[in-house]
Amino acid sequence: MGSKETLCRTRTILCFLLLFCVSCKCSASEFEITQVASLGVDASSHLARKIPDTLFGIFFEEINHAGAGGIWAELVSNRGFEAGGPHTPSNIEPWSIIGDDSSIFVGTDRTSCFRRNKVALRMEVLCDNCPAVGVGIYNPGFWGMNIEDGKTYNLVMHAKSPEMIEMTVSLTSSDGLRVLASAAIRVPGGSNWIKLDQKLVAQGTDRTSRLQITAKTKGVVWLDQVSLMPSDTYKGHGFRTELISMLLDLKPRFLRFPGGCFVEGSWLRNAFRWRDSIGPWEERPGHYGDVWNYWTDDGLGYYEFLQLSEDLGAAPVWVFNNGISHHDEVDTTAIAPFVKDILDSLEFARGSAESTWGSVRAAMGHPEPFPVKYVAIGNEDCGKENYRGNYLKFYNAIREAYPDIQMISNCDGSSGPLDHPADLYDFHVYTGSRALFSMKNTFDNTSRSGPKAFVSEYAVTGNDAGRGSLLASLAEAAFLTGLEKNSDVVHMASYAPLFINDNDRTWNPDAIVFNSWQQYGTPSYWMQKFFRESSGATIHPITISSSYSGSLAASVITWHDDENSFLRVKVVNFGPDAVSLTFSATGLQGSINALGSTATVLTSGSVMDENSFANPNKVVPVTIELRNASEEMEVTLPPHSLSAFDLALAQSRLVAEM
Ligand code: AHR
Repeated sequence: MGSKETLCRTRTILCFLLLFCVSCKCSASEFEITQVASLGVDASSHLARKIPDTLFGIFFEEINHAGAGGIWAELVSNRGFEAGGPHTPSNIEPWSIIGDDSSIFVGTDRTSCFRRNKVALRMEVLCDNCPAVGVGIYNPGFWGMNIEDGKTYNLVMHAKSPEMIEMTVSLTSSDGLRVLASAAIRVPGGSNWIKLDQKLVAQGTDRTSRLQITAKTKGVVWLDQVSLMPSDTYKGHGFRTELISMLLDLKPRFLRFPGGCFVEGSWLRNAFRWRDSIGPWEERPGHYGDVWNYWTDDGLGYYEFLQLSEDLGAAPVWVFNNGISHHDEVDTTAIAPFVKDILDSLEFARGSAESTWGSVRAAMGHPEPFPVKYVAIGNEDCGKENYRGNYLKFYNAIREAYPDIQMISNCDGSSGPLDHPADLYDFHVYTGSRALFSMKNTFDNTSRSGPKAFVSEYAVTGNDAGRGSLLASLAEAAFLTGLEKNSDVVHMASYAPLFINDNDRTWNPDAIVFNSWQQYGTPSYWMQKFFRESSGATIHPITISSSYSGSLAASVITWHDDENSFLRVKVVNFGPDAVSLTFSATGLQGSINALGSTATVLTSGSVMDENSFANPNKVVPVTIELRNASEEMEVTLPPHSLSAFDLALAQSRLVAEM
């Protein structure tokens, strides 16, 4: 190939961006093609290789309020008044008081009817002539509750009062002045706790609402486990529907959960404990996640993660604590009860409905086992003192009880053999865009025997990433083409982190950004859609030739939907030049149809462009028909772009199914 100057074409090509422009706001509507490249694929069946069915999935961590105040639709924060700790009086935040010292006295004591979460709220109404709005408490949820006109919200609360007391439950604006829904609730007098259910139908929309519980007459009432759930959660399973549909769109083949560092804890006493997160929600103690620094009521618990896997059609990957946190470790001589605890968790998931722990799952509404086939023994703990000792105890016990479960080590086996048995090993990478782009070759020289890689966390971070830039997504896409190419040794991969509540921007960037009522995908989210057909597809060898090839990354797969097969050519143009790419295919068992072929591109005017609530579709893929699709064709790669050309195959089902 010649130099950039000699390659510079005299003709100016109508901007690809213009073709793809959906909002008709493209200003840089033209660019010059200054580079050429050729991409050849040999689709012969003897050179093709099946990509593992599990290659691309998702990693959900309770970070950035991804779960509590996120996909878990519970609107009340600190519903059991436990967040302030077991010692009373305790801080009841984010609950606040309506009224003043002369009208109400609110405190906590340890008189709850729930054995594992003893703290209850005691509210004493002191006024005879109470204000018209009443006195009591309110909960703003997670930075305000999204209450929508016409929707039904299910309130459940537990209460006790020595004398009958009339109360009002209402959904109001954040200042309490606008009432969106209201109902009278009577707590009968007596010494027993009762459970109260109340449906509230909103008459009006307010994105930052609060739940109020008030009274207007003297009396004492104890309250505990107050829950407010929207009635339209995904499949009635408690998940925020619009966030789940974004996950479904990625067609994830596995769900790694619930962390990350969340699993480890800064200290073991604050690590995620599956046993405390199952059973009736009222009985869960909740816990403070001391790595990401917030309380969770654990409404989204072990059972719900398994349910989420099932709802997404994704294989569950249970990351459990191996007796190691960031700052303390259980000695291997004392790890036995922790091993037993994890065996119990597997019985909970996989045991029959008659087994000890399977019966608990069945009582929660899922008599059929959940097919847990993957477990990770800890997270990022390879270098810790007791890792190998503890690991082997877990490994041996699980192998014996569940020989089919694939176990994932925290130690990197990409450049040398592990010193312990494993089915897969974890590989995490967070780095700059140029570095990750180059890492597309990381697994080229990995031993083809031994445990497989699980790239369970990857992302561009730092300045290149901003809050989710196009640049980051392009480097990530290049990295993923390398994983596809090496999918004989890389069996699973997931971006991290998945979610961020805009009000708790602890870790940037993330794939999906949301608040109480909006959500959008960052370019890294949309990038993943280019790879969603790869799991279980067939990969073919390619050759790229260009003087510009250092800025290109590509892969070619055959995939099929229910009716058609496609050759998908994905190309990352990581550089600033537009490229004229000549594509040619040999070895096809059939021909390419222009009809049904498409081109999809992810690009934007600036490489640091991001999406936002104000402009959620600034950097999103755009698809057009590819009318010149054929075995040999010329296409344009815009500067800084990810393109996918889906070439409809007339008769290639055999290739796709080999
Ligand atoms: O994805 C964010 C964090 O990065 C994870 O909790 C941890 O595993 C990694 O260090």
